[in-house]
Amino acid sequence: MTRPVRDAGAVAECRICTGSVEEFLDLGRQPLSDAFRRPDDTAEEFFYRLAVGRCADCAMVQLVEEVPRERMFHEHYPYHSSGSSVMREHFARTARGFAAAVSGAPDPFIVEIGCNDGVLLRTVREAGVRHLGFEPSAGVARLAAGDGVRVKVEFFEAATAAAVRAAEGPADVIYAANTLCHIPYLDSVFKGIDALLAPDGVFVFEDPYLGDIVAKTSFDQIYDEHFYFFTAASVRAMARRFGLELVDTERLPVHGGEVRYTLARAGARRPSPAVDALIAEEEAARLGDPATLAGFTASVHRVRRDLSALLERLRGEGRTVAAYGATAKSATVTNFCGIGPDLVAHVSDSTPAKQGRLTPGAHLPVVPPERFADPYPDYAVLFAWNHADEIMAKEQAFRDAGGKWVLYVPEVRIV
Ligand code: SAM
Ligand code: TMP
Ligand code: ZN
Repeated sequence: MTRPVRDAGAVAECRICTGSVEEFLDLGRQPLSDAFRRPDDTAEEFFYRLAVGRCADCAMVQLVEEVPRERMFHEHYPYHSSGSSVMREHFARTARGFAAAVSGAPDPFIVEIGCNDGVLLRTVREAGVRHLGFEPSAGVARLAAGDGVRVKVEFFEAATAAAVRAAEGPADVIYAANTLCHIPYLDSVFKGIDALLAPDGVFVFEDPYLGDIVAKTSFDQIYDEHFYFFTAASVRAMARRFGLELVDTERLPVHGGEVRYTLARAGARRPSPAVDALIAEEEAARLGDPATLAGFTASVHRVRRDLSALLERLRGEGRTVAAYGATAKSATVTNFCGIGPDLVAHVSDSTPAKQGRLTPGAHLPVVPPERFADPYPDYAVLFAWNHADEIMAKEQAFRDAGGKWVLYVPEVRIV
């Protein structure tokens, strides 16, 4: 069951503190962002209302309607973390950092929430460190297991975490990348952290940063799976509520701009000056102010107008237009901007599970990357804009053949 649909501007209950969530952006009826469809599937598609608001009490920015987790994370969850070489290197480096940090402990234990295909834990395993991944999506979990990663096909929450604590002892590091923001029931997750984390352990997570989303108008970061949009201020308040303390923050360049947050048990570690510095930056930018969020909403509508107008103009001029990267983010863009196969012929994507399918809602055909060159379109909308350097380098021949990229973050432009 989804939570009840509310009218635009209405108030929902905060999932963290039960305060009032004031809606500031309505992105309309949206399909599940990773529900790629078989072309012959005639079943009715699942839609929900995608809208986002801010809690007036604890400042947490969150969706106002919740999609049940089993609809999103299941056997056929199509996202494979190892699909990007930049991300593979990011996680290998992160894993080596954790392995080095715990190397003084007698029998260190690293737990990952949302280990997906094992992109991080395979390096932890290679370093010889005891580890365990929680990954409820069985298909990607099997890929991790195939790499020798220990994985539990379960959602991390209070009960599953307590069971691991009882069987395997406390964890020195609990890590979650691009997963904590996917979990509405954080009260249960934090109970699990409390049960599993060693007294001097750290809980580290990284997710898209609201500061980057607002600065870049990257509204496509808003979709069913991304339930929370964290800031250092809202994470510090959340940590305190659950008996933890925010002791470090680090801005990361990946996925369009993220922050890595390090939490420890209250009083266990001295907070780094980076925490106060980032919160001061957020205050200076008035990140949580309703006026700032209203300005973001206006920018989102401007991007929609500009992108629709550009694609309609290109169609009118008889240009061929395709897209690159069948991202979950692109579900929001295509469905909010009304971009169907009449405007964008197909989307190239390297993920086998997405190829031969139609994108959710908008029904753009997903094709393998080889199809991109056969023949090259005049223009290609880069839906995977967060992987721009990697993809543009890989597809240099498109530019050499006279092709042009269409970007829409932070604004619509042709490059
Ligand atoms: N950590 C990887 C990365 O950064 O690329 C995967 C991120 S993927 C966007 C989110 C993952 O979290 C999915 O594989 C999903 O199945 C998993 N997930 C969702 N809810 C979870 C939960 N409660 N516990 C553990 N994993 C969860
Ligand atoms: P993400 O932005 O959520 O990481 O999704 C990126 C999508 O783009 C994913 O479906 C894989 C696809 N992709 C390619 O097709 N080629 C590439 O070179 C990269 C990096 C990603
Ligand atoms: Zn709240």
